Amino acid sequence: MIIARSLEELQSAVDAIKAGGKTVGFVPTMGALHDGHLGLMKLAASKADVVSVSIYVNPTQFAPNEDFDSYPRDVDGDLAKLQTVGVGLVYLPRTEDMYPNGTEITVKAGRAAQGLESDFRPHFFDGVATVVHRLFMQMRPDVAVFGEKDYQQLQVIKEMTEAENLTIEIIGGETARDAEGLALSSRNAYLFGTEIASARILNRVLRDVATVNENERAATIENGIRKLKDAGFDKIDYLTIKPEWDRVLVAAWLGKTRLIDNMALSA
Ligand code: PAF
Repeated sequence: MIIARSLEELQSAVDAIKAGGKTVGFVPTMGALHDGHLGLMKLAASKADVVSVSIYVNPTQFAPNEDFDSYPRDVDGDLAKLQTVGVGLVYLPRTEDMYPNGTEITVKAGRAAQGLESDFRPHFFDGVATVVHRLFMQMRPDVAVFGEKDYQQLQVIKEMTEAENLTIEIIGGETARDAEGLALSSRNAYLFGTEIASARILNRVLRDVATVNENERAATIENGIRKLKDAGFDKIDYLTIKPEWDRVLVAAWLGKTRLIDNMALSA
């Protein structure tokens, strides 16, 4: 496994892969890797010759009051996990590799960014679109894989890739869940004690909404909000259906932790 710790090191690694006529399947991450990420890497391996991964906690997608400083970081642990899934190249960029002229010049996310997350984290998708665009330019992948857990993010990236006319195939990887349906997330590391049991209510509420008939959805959403509050969620940012995506999506706060999840409508 090649570890590139700067843009220069990355460029020579990618040049060598391309010179060998191999395709690159890329999984961008912010580290704190769990089985959900490893699943995305296996998916990338089924689509390309070499799997590449970046680990970079991107400052431009965090607002000043958010968890950038406390976001879980464990590069050594991450590298050990990456060895187990046959990753060929890991990129650990420095901030001067990603933002050599500071953070003023950005990519603006498109229509998919409207509403939902943007109503609560208005800075978020421009930050994601900017860093993913830069990572794409640097990694030059043929395929890139993103988790469906961040469903709106996946739509924003697909839209950006199309708008920029990039010849990169964007693939969504199904959300990995624990035995009781809790979506795996790096932020689950913030949950402690009874919060984990409460967090598991999220996927049950999503399933309730996803599986009822259209005319029962509004009542099921209202009921779902009540269930979340009863389970100890402090604030529900949204629990809503996005018909264009055929999905029900949720974002809610458990203490200081904001969790998101979504499910395909199946009624
Ligand atoms: O989903 C994430 O981990 C991040 O938003 C991403 C896509 C790596 C961009 O920083």
